[in-house]
Amino acid sequence: MDMTRELERIVLVRHVEGLPRPSDFRIERAPIPPLAEGQFLIANRFVSCDPGTRSRLSPGASYARPVMPGEPVDGFCIGHVVESRNPAFPEGALVTATGWASHVVSSGRGYVRRLPPSDLPLSLRLGVLGIPGLTAWFALHRVAMLKPGERVLITSAAGPVGATAGQLARTLGADTVIGTAGGPEKCRWLVETAGFTHALDYKASDFEARFAEVAAGGIDVMLDNVGSTMIEAALPHMRTHGRIVLSGATADYSADVAPGVTRLRELITRRLRMEGILVFDDLPQFPEAEAGLAAAVRAGLAYREEIFEGLHALPEAFCGLFTGLSFGRRLVRLPA
Ligand SMILES: NC(=O)c1ccc[n+]([C@@H]2O[C@H](COP(=O)([O-])OP(=O)(O)OC[C@H]3O[C@@H](n4cnc5c(N)ncnc54)[C@H](OP(=O)(O)O)[C@@H]3O)[C@@H](O)[C@H]2O)c1
Repeated sequence: MDMTRELERIVLVRHVEGLPRPSDFRIERAPIPPLAEGQFLIANRFVSCDPGTRSRLSPGASYARPVMPGEPVDGFCIGHVVESRNPAFPEGALVTATGWASHVVSSGRGYVRRLPPSDLPLSLRLGVLGIPGLTAWFALHRVAMLKPGERVLITSAAGPVGATAGQLARTLGADTVIGTAGGPEKCRWLVETAGFTHALDYKASDFEARFAEVAAGGIDVMLDNVGSTMIEAALPHMRTHGRIVLSGATADYSADVAPGVTRLRELITRRLRMEGILVFDDLPQFPEAEAGLAAAVRAGLAYREEIFEGLHALPEAFCGLFTGLSFGRRLVRLPA
């Protein structure tokens, strides 16, 4: 192997305080080591910006250990195997893994999956057909067990998890799908393109009044991507035996102390279930869900992507997730 070959990767400069800034990251070059038996080298085509990465950039509660200053950061990525000493991941195989990097040396441990080829665009395998789409799928199918005729509320509805979930809810027979999002452009898209029944701009001055009006019909299933403030607002509108699925807490990831939920008594009086989802718990069922999501895309499920060019664009693209600048799945494309 050519020892002069190098990869590029994003490294954390310091633990993040509050909202992440591009200067919290730097890009570095490192040699690609010779492959050991069982290893393979992935050349990435796309890497993704995920709000959940924020929860690992400061010491604190996450299901995974925090990234330490000087360590590489690892969002999701997809690419092809370009060199292999592992027969399960031969040269040319399409693989999704983790790493904010041009290349990943893997031994197949952690989240590394060989994917079957598809005629759908590659970028979708990190978006509506990837972790965000799968999260929406299992949140509704397994955790919420959504039933026809139910009323659904989704926060951060214009994001890849939220927008996919709202449209899947419709195909599962939801009677009403309410989304919250920041700004009139996102709200218009949710109703006109993604088929939400109502889209409410949580930044608008009349939000509380409009939310009370729309939610007054009751909510059977809430999929929350944002955090405690919206759960607190939704609790008095939940119908008996309603389900609140906690997918993420984008608004709370950067807060020292999240506002919290005080109306817990509503869980008793309304016999509610509130449950977190971690999509990797459903790993064995991913292929089935991916097939369902691909069928939904072919049938017209709407999605939005924002594609940035080159690894150097990643820190700024990522930071935009927390200021409402993103609208759809944010990805960075790497040269072939
Ligand atoms: N549990 C799991 O296994 C799993 C897997 C994947 C993702 N997730 C979680 O699912 C959630 C959605 O992920 P996604 O990829 O679809 O990203 P996303 O919802 O598109 O996240 C970015 C968007 O979040 C909204 N946001 C940012 N700060 C906010 C704030 N303070 N208050 C309210 N909204 C805010 C912004 O939209 P607005 O303009 O609308 O504010 C922003 O554009 C995230 O919390 C993520 O961590 C969980």
